[in-house]
Amino acid sequence: MILVTGGAGYIGSHTCVELLNAGFDVTVFDNFCNSSPEALIRVEQITRKKLTLITGDCRDRGAMIKALKESQASAVIHFAGLKAVGESVENPTIYYDNNVVGTLRLIEAMQECQLKTLVFSSSATVYGDPVKLPLTEDHPLAPTNPYGRSKKMIEEMLCDLYQSDHSFKIAILRYFNPVGAHDSGLIGEDPRGIPNNLMPFVAQVAVGRQESLSVWGSDYPTPDGTGVRDYIHVVDLALGHLKALEALKIASEKRNSCLTINLGTGQGYSVLDVVRAYEKASKKNIPYRIAPRRPGDIASCYADPKRAHDVLGWQAKLGLDEMCANSWHWQSNNPTGYQQN
Ligand code: UD1
Repeated sequence: MILVTGGAGYIGSHTCVELLNAGFDVTVFDNFCNSSPEALIRVEQITRKKLTLITGDCRDRGAMIKALKESQASAVIHFAGLKAVGESVENPTIYYDNNVVGTLRLIEAMQECQLKTLVFSSSATVYGDPVKLPLTEDHPLAPTNPYGRSKKMIEEMLCDLYQSDHSFKIAILRYFNPVGAHDSGLIGEDPRGIPNNLMPFVAQVAVGRQESLSVWGSDYPTPDGTGVRDYIHVVDLALGHLKALEALKIASEKRNSCLTINLGTGQGYSVLDVVRAYEKASKKNIPYRIAPRRPGDIASCYADPKRAHDVLGWQAKLGLDEMCANSWHWQSNNPTGYQQN
């Protein structure tokens, strides 16, 4: 049994599908602060399997202990957390509370229950403005906002925990830019309000919910002047978690079993590359205008995915065309996300 915190969220729900398909039992622990129970119904529909749901908040240590005991989980995948950069600048305390305190309570509960296998959702945002590309895991960490700093603090907390007790097995996964959707078109990204991130915004332009895309800056030192990112298909990303669980299962106390691993493709695409690929996938015109740079944005960011390959035997398989096609399938079938209008 795997306990998945934040399992109803975008990456969490896709990971639940892959876990169930691989034969794992799954208990989702979620407070639905930024997700919908409908996502879990769809997960069951896709897999034709049942999962167990516990509605709760990671900051509630008692609820966490109860969930670990009831589920009899052998490992935790911890997705629950807040993730909007702008919101974290305006309201940092909720980020430290949800993300850092939430994880602290979770690991206290795990200690209490003698449960010691954890896969944690981190982000490439911990690197900040890259000094050197591609980004390897030993690149210096210099996050530029409270969201990124909350992820870095959690990483440090987990490494300290491992140093104090080598029977913990921990995988810290640094995601690049997750996009796309399950190819059933039943689950996908469903941001509340106006999307901050590129692909969900483009998807809403294609479906007619937004008029036009603002391209934040065309004067970056990149091939076409627009920002370059390492977009990774959410299903590839989900499979990375299964590989991490496998790697932790065989990790022994002799080997380092606190792993920090990039999950990216190693390939960068510009904003305009994404727009063109989305136009092709959706057969829609995506109107855009060039706008000033978004404060805090960087020119380019892409992974060195070698460690994931060497240590996990994982590598991304799906390309930009599949990311856009699957995103469009989800968006066109569910123009208003999980909430039916
Ligand atoms: C953002 C977050 C990052 C987080 C990641 C999750 C910021 C500054 N960073 O990364 O911490 O981990 O999402 O996926 O928010 N763009 C436009 N127009 C738009 C939206 C985006 O031109 O309406 C451009 C951006 O300038 C950037 C690229 O598209 O060049 C990707 O942006 P986005 O999807 O927001 O991801 P990141 O900024 O890489």
